Amino acid sequence: MTVQEKLGQLQQLTWTGETGPGGGQTAETEDAARAGRLGSVLNIHGAAHTNALQRIAVEDSRLGIPLLFGLDVIHGFWTTFPIPLAQAAAFDPEVSRSDAEVANAETRTNGVRWTFAPMMDVTHEPRWGRIAEGSGEDPYLNAAYAVAKIRAHQGAADGSELAHDDRLAACAKHFVAYGGAEGGRDYNTVDMSEQRLRNHYLPPFKAAIDAGAATVMAAFNTVGGVPAHGNAHTMQAILKDEWDFDGFVVSDYTGVQELIAHGFAEDGADAAALAFTAGMDMEMVSTNITEHGESLVESGALPLDRLDDAVARVLRLKFALGLFETPYCDESAEITEPSPAARAAARAAAARCMVLLKNEASALPLAPDLASVAVVGPFADSTDLHGTWAGPGCRRFPSVSVVEAVREAAPSATVTHAGTDPSQAADAARAADVTVVVVGEDPALSGEAAARADIALPAGQEELIAAVAATGRPYVVVLVNGRPLVLGDWYDAAPAVLEAWHGGIEAGSAVADALFGAVNPGGKLPVTFPRAVGQIPVYYNHESTGRPYDPDEKYTSKYLDLEDGPRLPFGHGLSYTTFTTSEPTPTRESITRDELAAGATVEVTVTVTNTGHRTGDETVQLYVHDVAASIAQPVRKLRGFRRVTLAPGATTTVTFPLGEEDLGFWTNDPAGTFRVERGRFDVYAGTSSTAPAYGTLRVL
Ligand code: IFM
Repeated sequence: MTVQEKLGQLQQLTWTGETGPGGGQTAETEDAARAGRLGSVLNIHGAAHTNALQRIAVEDSRLGIPLLFGLDVIHGFWTTFPIPLAQAAAFDPEVSRSDAEVANAETRTNGVRWTFAPMMDVTHEPRWGRIAEGSGEDPYLNAAYAVAKIRAHQGAADGSELAHDDRLAACAKHFVAYGGAEGGRDYNTVDMSEQRLRNHYLPPFKAAIDAGAATVMAAFNTVGGVPAHGNAHTMQAILKDEWDFDGFVVSDYTGVQELIAHGFAEDGADAAALAFTAGMDMEMVSTNITEHGESLVESGALPLDRLDDAVARVLRLKFALGLFETPYCDESAEITEPSPAARAAARAAAARCMVLLKNEASALPLAPDLASVAVVGPFADSTDLHGTWAGPGCRRFPSVSVVEAVREAAPSATVTHAGTDPSQAADAARAADVTVVVVGEDPALSGEAAARADIALPAGQEELIAAVAATGRPYVVVLVNGRPLVLGDWYDAAPAVLEAWHGGIEAGSAVADALFGAVNPGGKLPVTFPRAVGQIPVYYNHESTGRPYDPDEKYTSKYLDLEDGPRLPFGHGLSYTTFTTSEPTPTRESITRDELAAGATVEVTVTVTNTGHRTGDETVQLYVHDVAASIAQPVRKLRGFRRVTLAPGATTTVTFPLGEEDLGFWTNDPAGTFRVERGRFDVYAGTSSTAPAYGTLRVL
């Protein structure tokens, strides 16, 4: 390969301008493919389209190296599943497995071999629009979902199944700490200690690499003043040297170019040199590596062995995917629409993601024999409940609306509909046995470049709920949104509130399933819901302070003008039935550090009983607190969860192993030191992060 051909493998161009600034690069893409100066293309799909472009690379370029086509298949290709944040609320990574399996088939047959998913950015920032794309505020939960999705996309962790025709290469993103951006403002500053980086933000990525993630995408933010795209500490020292990652790192859209705007690089040549010597392997959309790479190699600013390493990483994946043997896809096998089975899986997934936030006097489920139901609010008849970063399917296949699904679920009822006008909604409510008020956020209000400073319900919606409430008639509220919201006074007054998120193509059907009790909601919040924007960040796994909140002591940590604690805690979620959980019982009182280092675990058992009258799901959650450590530890950290289904009166015992990884922490050592310290650990178990029942364990 010539240096130019090598550099070409490190260049990715975009077919359309769908997912970033600027337009598509169609003409440049074809020319570059023909000249052998292109490794990958994003934002292209369709068997005929991808084959046509591939033919140029394979048949017209000197070396005939196939292109790698990538796309953001975040929660579905044709068949949109719930947004990832919603999937996390299922506390069941199987939901993401079913999403990935449907997506693999639809994506592969459309010529795309690489998805820019999963996103595993832990965040404490509900204002950040991209909170919708990850699994919320907890590293353990994010890691569990990342692993499930990567395994479902790629198969075996050693990459041996990547060439199978039902697999995609995955991309762990965004590396790293993107969720820590100040004020939730996208593309922004992140400055944190090494221990925070390693304990909160890196664990999902480490789990993803262990699960075999083929690629990693760099993040738009800085980390300690150094942009992630030029950060040798994170990309080279941690990802490649410490973790032995042998896949490749792709930049985000124009992320290499943005090193200039960050004030880190002087010009394009400087940007390419800084990024690629720091561990970058492929440049997305901007073209600094292909424009300046040759002179950088000549001057030694980009060492040849670094260039060769980056090229080898890209080519290894192309070989593993079988692209050299099978560069084209079978146009006759292209899937062009969601199948009934795919829709059924999306509907089941959406129902599993619902979180019953409150349900006074069993306002829900609704009786199936109601004579009349009003479905009101701005999203009552919305067919765009796909959510942010939905795949190409969202433009062709509308979501089932809530009103349409309610009509189907209650065929003998008179179902009326009113939109955004409060007086019309109130009129409809007066005439109905019950009113379903569907409020929330338009999908465009979350996702990339969609930070909000005020995360209450958007203008007019609280008034609409108030107008319905003022009728004195029964009503319930359904939320469709992509982030935690500040729930206003309306929340206290509402008899029942169902968090349905942006549920995808079958969103309305799943809402109706839950409203009428065909499905008993069992999701849990994967993020804390704050009381007020001024309280952010508020998250369950915060450090202890020297003066924890005490309402009777002035000089303790609190706001003078706000009740303590979040509006709704991490892990919260009700059911149409009730459960009790026992105290967690460790099988032994103590364990030594040597035993832990040798792989021994302490088993903790928790018994859960359905004490109500319906079959339902409970998610038993296990939290650990290291009572005294050389670095202040979170008041609790999630180290296990299990969603179980129980018939009325049934009991089951859940066992969680606690090992070294669960009891230790990363220190501030930049070279990476993980340790377990001696002392007492409190082990909490229950139905949310505030569960009081605990047992203790000593590490000797
Ligand atoms: O994959 C995305 C990334 O998450 C945000 N910027 C654009 C990329 C490609 O579409």
